[in-house]
Amino acid sequence: MKTQVGIVGAGPAGLVLSHLLAQAGISNAVLEMHTRPYIEERVRAGVLEQGTVDLLNELGLGERMMRQGLMHYGIELRFEGRGHRIDFADLTGGKGVMIYAQHEVIKDLVSARLAMEGEIVFEAREVCVDRIESEKPVIRFVKNGVAQELECNFIAGCDGFHGICRDSIPKGVLKIHDRDYPFGWLGILAEAPPASHELIYVNHERGFGLMSMRSPKVSRLYLQCKPDEELSEWPDERIWEELQKRFSTRDGFSLTEGPVIQKGVTGMRSFVVEPMQFGRMFLAGDSAHIVPPTGAKGLNLAVADVRVLAAGLKEFYSSGKRELLERYSEICLRRVWKVQRFSWWMTSLLHRFSNDNEFDRRRQLAELDYVTSSRAAATTLAENYVGLPLE
Ligand code: FAD
Ligand code: DHB
Repeated sequence: MKTQVGIVGAGPAGLVLSHLLAQAGISNAVLEMHTRPYIEERVRAGVLEQGTVDLLNELGLGERMMRQGLMHYGIELRFEGRGHRIDFADLTGGKGVMIYAQHEVIKDLVSARLAMEGEIVFEAREVCVDRIESEKPVIRFVKNGVAQELECNFIAGCDGFHGICRDSIPKGVLKIHDRDYPFGWLGILAEAPPASHELIYVNHERGFGLMSMRSPKVSRLYLQCKPDEELSEWPDERIWEELQKRFSTRDGFSLTEGPVIQKGVTGMRSFVVEPMQFGRMFLAGDSAHIVPPTGAKGLNLAVADVRVLAAGLKEFYSSGKRELLERYSEICLRRVWKVQRFSWWMTSLLHRFSNDNEFDRRRQLAELDYVTSSRAAATTLAENYVGLPLE
């Protein structure tokens, strides 16, 4: 098999890249280790930045999202039992975010790609990359028990945090920056109408809480827990009881309860590799960086990376120039670090750390007070939440 760009991983990064390249007339093939139903059902993110929404629409992939997604123009920050709204539209000149599940985006991207006869190989096993420093890198994999080779001009490593691309770069090339957090999130999906039209982020003495949604009938809720929390210790009644405590307000707010249809624990980390490129292989999305989920940036950052990569590849194939490709890592990392900063800031603003003392607590409350009372501070939050402009 031969193609111009070999893409490892059919997550948001790999699939959006495949569409962007196809639109520019650049041939590509996506190799995915899992089955199509698996990637189309995996519950993950739910918030799309304005720029991600606009891109999906420009690519002609936004029809279902515009029908079924929920456009939001603000969030609530709740602390000391009181809610404070951050008005994105007012603070950012009309921008907002779209609530639309990541796996629905994946369904839309996969079906459109296959309808255009794009190549996506599901259940590609034992994927490995070779000759990445040469002009003709190759991806090897096994499909239906048969070993295959894909020759390409470039490889896009879009295979997530646990993928193989990053580790195929020789030792000593990449500098790793990381930080673990002493907590995780226990997340549920529940057949219960969201108790508010907008997302609520809670800072409570028992820990962080988040109320999000997937539709007017389905809530997505999270609570801060231990990083290695045992799900078996959390029957549904205990989850609801804990959520109700954290979301309670002075004027008697309560969450709408309903059957829990999915639950899981997610660890939290910040992670960045530099550079995001080696030879003819480019890392994009979670394979190059992870942000803690507070602020919902992971998917959006993955999409921002591949926009830069697609622009560089377009320039290369149309003019032979490599200027943008050579600056890929530098351009992406500027945004990556700003998004790391924001995700870290939202995380430290809203969670309880086990070693917090009274001073830390008062400082955190002062920060929340500042962000909900100063237009300048609120604008900083709003412009990051709806998404910083692309360079
Ligand atoms: P991925 O989506 O991880 O896609 C990588 C793909 O590569 C996968 O399909 C994988 O199967 C495939 N793959 C891996 N290894 C190989 C291999 N060796 N060969 C072939 N294929 C391979 N972000 C938010 O913005 N908001 C959230 O609320 C949020 N919640 C999350 C909840 C969970 C439980 C998790 C895990 C993540 C969450 N994220 C969230 C992060 C967000 O989902 C990711 O940032 C986003 O999926 C990154 O996209 P990606 O394409 O880079 O990687
Ligand atoms: C969701 C996840 C987030 O991390 C976040 O900050 C907001 C919403 C969600 O899954 O809906």
